[in-house]
Amino acid sequence: MAAVLMRFVPCSLGPAVVPRSLSFSSSAAVRAVSLSTTKPLPERVKIVEVGPRDGLQNEKTIVPAEVKIRLIDMLSEAGLPVIEATSFVSPKWVPQMADQEEVMRGIQRKPGVNYPVLTPNLKGYRAAVTAGAKEVAIFGAASELFSKKNINCSVEESLQRFEEVMKAAKQEGIPVRGYISCVLGCPYEGKVSPVKVAEVAKRLYSMGCYEISLGDTIGVGTPGGMAEMLEAVKKEVPIHALAVHCHDTYGQALANILVALQNGVSVVDSSVAGLGGCPYAQGASGNVATEDVIYMLNGLGIHTTL
Ligand code: HMG
Ligand code: MG
Repeated sequence: MAAVLMRFVPCSLGPAVVPRSLSFSSSAAVRAVSLSTTKPLPERVKIVEVGPRDGLQNEKTIVPAEVKIRLIDMLSEAGLPVIEATSFVSPKWVPQMADQEEVMRGIQRKPGVNYPVLTPNLKGYRAAVTAGAKEVAIFGAASELFSKKNINCSVEESLQRFEEVMKAAKQEGIPVRGYISCVLGCPYEGKVSPVKVAEVAKRLYSMGCYEISLGDTIGVGTPGGMAEMLEAVKKEVPIHALAVHCHDTYGQALANILVALQNGVSVVDSSVAGLGGCPYAQGASGNVATEDVIYMLNGLGIHTTL
């Protein structure tokens, strides 16, 4: 059993993150986290489908643009309100997304459906808008080392780049979503402080992001960690502007999402068939599967339709 569990342990976690098969804790080492809530669950949850971007960016063989286009069109036909279509990042960094313009031009835009794309800087933003993007997402991190590995700059430098994107987007009336990676752990730094997550969330929200997606990039979070992190972030950003983005490395994603719902979060990122991962976060497994999230939400009587 231990061998099976160890298969999923990210190889570059370093000493700060203990493989779960070894993390037995004595009662003295465990601090109880209260998950109780008096708040009702949200009546409606918005699903942000990230499969075509987060799901495919990590595929080893290049998926042809026409297949991506077909996937996106099938997802919109399925009734998903938001489908993250691609990313305008450097093709040297993420070759899988090099066909972003072709994808944006090829999809059948269904009325009422948003097709946001990732833009790390002004260059990406300009290319995205030229290709017809009507919404973009900037993506930062709560971990310095991850920021450096993923977008080649410090957290502070990334926020300055995002200000440039935001300024242009405001002038052109383009809504901007913000991501924060590594909110529950980092492949390079291990534990990430909820205070740091809250600081970055506050910056993104004050610069104008209408929604902040909190990413458990390598899926190391647990319901306890999620509750603690949200407690800190809620002090800085209104709950209606928060989303959760859970990778599912240790099978904790649905439980983490349930805790987020109990805290009032009503936007959940997910990926069809649980595709996903990040090329700069070794060990990151797929996102929580869209169909599993919808199954859970249906069971809770929560609406997911437009
Ligand atoms: P850099 O090398 O520091 O960029 O990369 P630079 O400004 O020095 O430029 C170097 C070259 O890249 C130049 O080209 C630029 O023109 C070009 P050259 O002169 O060498 O031919 N360049 C670009 N090309 C296309 N589009 C652009 C762009 N910008 C510069 N936008 C950069 C910095 C941010 C570009 C790079 O690090 C990058 O593309 N990183 C993207 C990494 C990525 O996409 N990661 C996955 C997405 S994040 C994720 O999955 C997490 C998430 O799901 C949430 C979670 O799970 O936590 C969102
Ligand atoms: Mg992700």
